[in-house]
Amino acid sequence: MSEWLLDPDVTYLNHGAFGALPKVVAEAAAQLRVEMERNPADLLMRRLPDLLDQVRGRLAEFLHADEAGCVFLANATAGTATVIRSLAPDMQPGDEILTTDHRYQAVQVQLQAHANRDGVVPVFAHVPLDLTDPSDVVTAIIERVTRRTRLIVVDSIASASGFVFPVAQIVEAAHERGVPVLVDAAHAPGQIANDLEQLGADFWVGNLHKWVCSPRAAAILSITPQWREKIRPLVPSHLFADGLQPAFDWTGTFDPVNLLAVPAALDFWAGLGWDGVRRRQRELVDAGAAVVAAALGTTTRVDDRFRAAMRIVELPDRLDASRARSIEATLSARYRVEVSLMNLHDRDFVRVCGQVYNEPADYDRLARALPELL
Ligand SMILES: Cc1ncc(COP(=O)(O)O)c(C=O)c1O
Repeated sequence: MSEWLLDPDVTYLNHGAFGALPKVVAEAAAQLRVEMERNPADLLMRRLPDLLDQVRGRLAEFLHADEAGCVFLANATAGTATVIRSLAPDMQPGDEILTTDHRYQAVQVQLQAHANRDGVVPVFAHVPLDLTDPSDVVTAIIERVTRRTRLIVVDSIASASGFVFPVAQIVEAAHERGVPVLVDAAHAPGQIANDLEQLGADFWVGNLHKWVCSPRAAAILSITPQWREKIRPLVPSHLFADGLQPAFDWTGTFDPVNLLAVPAALDFWAGLGWDGVRRRQRELVDAGAAVVAAALGTTTRVDDRFRAAMRIVELPDRLDASRARSIEATLSARYRVEVSLMNLHDRDFVRVCGQVYNEPADYDRLARALPELL
């Protein structure tokens, strides 16, 4: 815990929400800021392309991605919006975009905006939480493909459920039907191992501020070669016509420090060792979720095969959204416990995360506090 900027008096079980910052990464970012401010014009006008290329190279290696297809964005929300908007001119009214009922709420809003504007119909495949076979997950999605399906949007790790989707099998099955796939991998960098070259998803967008723990906000979008002429940023600027990476590297003045600090975050985790980190995250959250479930008299609902560092535990009773927000706020203010309550499939859950700064006692604290409030 002492390696993190988190308040030691706060029981932080919500790493998935916005990540958290290790002190060494914060220090690296502070140094980069000083460096930039010594001569902002020199850094932003002349040195930035090379500096971004260096970060891109590190990330391509980390994600096993083709560097030539990687661009930066502020966040996953911008990534999904960029892909959907760039593909819109090739879609007709009545065409369909298929996603699942685990999709992030903002993605649903984006699909609805697209539907209102262009008449492209969003379709939501139901993926039950208690599936145990990855091929059943694939079937639940792929059986909703029709001859009008123009894109599948699937989470790598869903926010509401922590469910780790078998994206490789989904991409394979979609490609057999000639449908491109956008993977919303907001939680994937760091939380699971990724091999984007092998995955072959047409579009894959991951946040760096969540489980890589860069400063907020930073994200990467990886695009396979056949789409690189099609995808362009939502905000055109000087270099819009100069190719994929120049168009994304400059969309107007921005603060590049968060991106430039990504290598420091990768170094931090490499020092700890990713395999051990992921094992520890899982041990913590598996045991912690079991403690919370026992206190609530309910269960954790997602099979071992679809788990990483986030777990949902069912609440004994239904909550409306305002009561859920009020319980989160009371947990934070009175008990100093930070978690998110989630609604999925007409049920309510508490989502807990496991991160190396957590300890078993954190989940005990939640297990004592939550029943009192419910
Ligand atoms: C699955 C998923 N997609 C997209 C996002 C959006 O991330 P951001 O707010 O960084 O754009 C999140 C955020 O939690 C998410 O969980």
